[in-house]
Amino acid sequence: MGKTIFLLGATGYIGGSILEHLLDLSDYSITALVRNTEKAKKLEGFGVKTILGSLDDLDKIQRAAAAADIVLHCAHADHVGAAKAVLAGNKERFQTTGVAPIYIHTSGTGAFIDGAVGTRFDPESLPLYDDSDRAVMDALPDTAFHRNVDLLVLEGDTEGYVRSYIVLPSTVWGILTGKLVDAGIANSHSIQIPAAIKASIRKGQGAMIGLGENEWLHVEIHELADLYIRLLNAAVAGTVPHGRDGQYIGENGVYRLKDTAAAYTRALHAAGRSRTAEPESFTKGDIDRFFGGRPWLGTNCRAKGVRAKRDLGWAPTKGDAEFLTGVEKEAASVLTSLRGA
Ligand SMILES: NC(=O)c1ccc[n+]([C@@H]2O[C@H](COP(=O)([O-])OP(=O)(O)OC[C@H]3O[C@@H](n4cnc5c(N)ncnc54)[C@H](OP(=O)(O)O)[C@@H]3O)[C@@H](O)[C@H]2O)c1
Repeated sequence: MGKTIFLLGATGYIGGSILEHLLDLSDYSITALVRNTEKAKKLEGFGVKTILGSLDDLDKIQRAAAAADIVLHCAHADHVGAAKAVLAGNKERFQTTGVAPIYIHTSGTGAFIDGAVGTRFDPESLPLYDDSDRAVMDALPDTAFHRNVDLLVLEGDTEGYVRSYIVLPSTVWGILTGKLVDAGIANSHSIQIPAAIKASIRKGQGAMIGLGENEWLHVEIHELADLYIRLLNAAVAGTVPHGRDGQYIGENGVYRLKDTAAAYTRALHAAGRSRTAEPESFTKGDIDRFFGGRPWLGTNCRAKGVRAKRDLGWAPTKGDAEFLTGVEKEAASVLTSLRGA
């Protein structure tokens, strides 16, 4: 019999991209936590068993985790209760079977950001986080974004009842395609770039945070899914280390916010949704209104994903040029969805 996977986030952008691949693999039997009844019914049609519930249904999560060889959590990087419930289920399974199950958790490179507001990083204050450099990863402050949950996951591994792995995707981009999107199950859009595009449309002008001199990393969605599948297979085969040496930064290039903003502003201007073809800065009022007062798009994120390429044979091909083309396509797609709304 194949291994059992409990998947959280099956209807999401990242989780949906992974499930798309899993459906083609006969090695795994999948149970997903889903909160939407219609989507649960549709998933059953694809051979996925479902548990109706939310991330606050901690007993359900613990029970399902205890029943699975592998937990794949792509629903929420910051939900402490759900992560604790997964770990409690992992522990229960270990106590019953004597075998440490696998937990692959989704965090994010938001853990590495500085406090910049559209300015370039200060090399003195922002280290280069490298997932193959244990010392620099261990030096990440406990107070960093996402880190409270990641530390729980790492602690479970240290205690020995679970083999844990953490994937830290950077800005994931691209429009997810596949049968789960076509069936109206999976979300096809990411978070960061679409948020900037939607805010620009509401402002009537393509815009960025400050001068947009800040830099982030990016990874294309289908290529990120490939990283997860490779990691899953390697974890099952036991060929890669886990715990603190099992953290994988998902990135394949760097972008500067101002170049990104130039790409979506051009597309919005051509569609008559930006007054000018050059991006302006969001005002403080815009940031309050569109981003809840948090100028996180203006931060810098400096990191390097070494492990996946070196140890998993992950070979993404979509780099910086494809990213900018993808931004223009995302702008066109957001405009189409607004016209259809
Ligand atoms: N996208 C990125 O660029 C990126 C980069 C780094 C890290 N991340 C992190 O990765 C995680 C997933 O991101 P994503 O882009 O895949 O987001 P998404 O498309 O919004 O997917 C989230 C998934 O989790 C489910 N979910 C969320 N809250 C839930 C709750 N309270 N109860 C039950 N299900 C819940 C959603 O279910 P519904 O379909 O019912 O809403 C959906 O299946 C997030 O924590 C995000 O911060 C994302």
